Amino acid sequence: MLEKWWHQSVVYQIYPRSFQDSNHDGIGDIRGIISRLDYLKELGIDVIWLSPVYQSPNDDNGYDISDYQAIHPDFGTMADMDDLIEQAKERGIRIVMDLVVNHTSDEHKWFVEARKNKDNPYRDYYVWRDPVDEKEPNGMRSTFSGPAWEFDEETGQYYLHLFSKKQPDLNWENEAVRREVYDMMNFWIDKGIGGFRMDVIDLIGKIPDQEITGNGPKLHDYLQEMNQQTFGAADLLTVGETWGATPEIAKAYSHPDRHELSMVFQFEHVGLDQQEGKDKWDLKALSIPKLKAVLSKWQVSLGEEGWNSLFWNNHDLPRIVSRWGNDGEYRRQSAKMFAILLHMMKGTPYIYQGEEIGMTNYPIADISEADDIETINMYHERLAEGYSKESLLASINAKGRDNARRPVQWDSSNQAGFTNGTPWLAVHPNYQTINVADSLADEDSIFYTYQKLIQLRKEHPIIVYGSYTLLLEEDPVIFAYLREYEGKRWLVCANFSEEVQKLQLEVDETESKPIIQNYQRDFYDLSELVLEPYETFVVELD
Ligand code: NOJ
Repeated sequence: MLEKWWHQSVVYQIYPRSFQDSNHDGIGDIRGIISRLDYLKELGIDVIWLSPVYQSPNDDNGYDISDYQAIHPDFGTMADMDDLIEQAKERGIRIVMDLVVNHTSDEHKWFVEARKNKDNPYRDYYVWRDPVDEKEPNGMRSTFSGPAWEFDEETGQYYLHLFSKKQPDLNWENEAVRREVYDMMNFWIDKGIGGFRMDVIDLIGKIPDQEITGNGPKLHDYLQEMNQQTFGAADLLTVGETWGATPEIAKAYSHPDRHELSMVFQFEHVGLDQQEGKDKWDLKALSIPKLKAVLSKWQVSLGEEGWNSLFWNNHDLPRIVSRWGNDGEYRRQSAKMFAILLHMMKGTPYIYQGEEIGMTNYPIADISEADDIETINMYHERLAEGYSKESLLASINAKGRDNARRPVQWDSSNQAGFTNGTPWLAVHPNYQTINVADSLADEDSIFYTYQKLIQLRKEHPIIVYGSYTLLLEEDPVIFAYLREYEGKRWLVCANFSEEVQKLQLEVDETESKPIIQNYQRDFYDLSELVLEPYETFVVELD
């Protein structure tokens, strides 16, 4: 496989509102990020994926953009942004921008124009349909509850919004829209950014009249055109958010010969704790054998024909240590287990801010404590349908997006060192024990496991390019796999449970020295392993 710089890179996602405030307004900002670049350098990451910092009315916290070429004053200025790109570059870190072009804000000038009248030159930038029997054109639903169609009184038509009413969908069939998007992307490429993370990019080929949203027939044509018109000639990292991707679909996006994207985020593992055919709020316990099967399928099926991204967390997902680990007694051990399991796989790993110190979910007692539009809309919709408050809060505390959006816990000072003002979203009260300063001072911290994993990836091509074989497929709690490359073999083995486990591995070697581990041991007797709760290790087999 032709080597690419992003094959060996580790990406760190920053959700700017919650990362670091520098001007005491309670909202994280670009100067705050700059002040923490040395910390990120110490962690060892190569790329920052920056969630949106553009001008936005913040209906969906910046994923509703009203000007793609302006910075929201909450975050600073374009000069700050240029400085961030520059200062990151000086430290060998590239900035990947969030590209949100399935929709704009309803306050974007294109939409402001479009809704003026049916003949407006911008009308066709969006998706408008006449009412059918005085109702919505069809039954499409918004991800954020309710119909995906909003009636515009002024012009007597409905517009499509797959997310909030304030996020009208762009009409990608219109060439002028595509041109505008490419010009905007080139504006950012000219600034020297490292690439794009593409928000719900699988939706841009939608055919609303057939109720087709994901993976529409023209999707890949658009991406090939985008590639040609923008980043194709530059050596950038592009990653598409694609909820419905199967391995076959992922190859269509990321096969090097197809000239589309570097890689996609697939979400098959993310859906494993929700009931079949229902929403993420409809909880079910995780089956570890299924998790192993899904992740392993993705490890082996792309081969030379695509590239994986690896993640447990992002700004839309609950904290992994609370979700599938143990955020009490075994927080440290389970957080390290997740880190090792993922970072030893093939693909580009993504770390979400605070994951490297094992930040946890923040349970709320009342809906008034929630900020996220998805959470709030779902709560009211389901309450009206008869769900109990208790069950809704249980779902929100397990899956709500605010969990990941709490301010980063930097130290044990007031407001966790995030701000001197009042944070836009309350800081988790556990900041006095879980914070960056303490993690840096403790050589056994989760932080240093991440640091070491990143370093190992840079030193050992086996991690980047080795083959993958799952072991003990049927075992209910042991997650073990082999990586092999140019005659080398590494074994990764984890006890994904709170109980001590005894096991025998299907390998010939009996004793081995650890490459990385989450319990102190000089060697592992592979013929008779006794693993402590969440115990995880990596060894080289002779
Ligand atoms: C996916 C983003 O990750 C999420 O935060 C956002 O709400 C939707 N796309 C809509 O832009």
